[in-house]
Amino acid sequence: MAAESDPSARLAIALDTDDVDEAMQWARAVKGMFGIAKVGLQLFSAYGPDALEPLMRLGFKIFLDLKLHDIPVTVEKSAKVISKLGVAYMTVHAAGGVDMVKAAASGLNEGAASANISSPQLLGVTILTSVPMASSADLSARISILIEAGADGLVCAPTDLIRINSLVPGFVKVVPGIRRLEDSLGDQARVSSPDEALAAGADILVIGRPITASPDPRRAAEEFFSIVKNRSN
Ligand code: C5P
Repeated sequence: MAAESDPSARLAIALDTDDVDEAMQWARAVKGMFGIAKVGLQLFSAYGPDALEPLMRLGFKIFLDLKLHDIPVTVEKSAKVISKLGVAYMTVHAAGGVDMVKAAASGLNEGAASANISSPQLLGVTILTSVPMASSADLSARISILIEAGADGLVCAPTDLIRINSLVPGFVKVVPGIRRLEDSLGDQARVSSPDEALAAGADILVIGRPITASPDPRRAAEEFFSIVKNRSN
């Protein structure tokens, strides 16, 4: 993916909460700087599609991060439903295999066609950033699955980028596990600073607790925004 020149298109806020009011407060705090709102299992389990509409109204693209991993037919049918919600990105686990990722792609296409909207980009999670080690063999195997199945991009740890860039030139590379020096790791094991991740080839940075656990989320967002802006110039 050619790096977007609009820095906000490269920043996703992870809205990891089960309280939609809290999610909206965070979203308002980063509005204009972060263009993508990532809704994960926690918020979606609490509110379902109702969690998405107010975020869309605020102008966010939605990254629905449900990390699907099931038998292909279940994934296909779920992807078809998800696609009709008008989200911009959705995730599956690459570990689900070629047939499962292909099923997700066809479900997304079917759903989007029936709703007459564009299909979400399908992202494959390679190896979670909370896993301490990612072997090159495991990474390559997951990437082969995503390429063969026709995914649009992947989610990987920033520290894995250097090993995968040459394998996936056309993929959107979405990267969580972003920490400044002052941020605590939380449960993330393989992290990088935003500058390092961008230099290593990240297209979209996913940032959660460094903003949502900050006493001043807007100020924290401004810092990330200016780092991405400087890199995009
Ligand atoms: O709070 P933090 O910045 O660690 O948030 C990272 C977000 O990225 C979480 O919502 C997590 O589910 C997600 N994620 C991840 N590692 C992956 C894929 C997604 O941490 N490989």
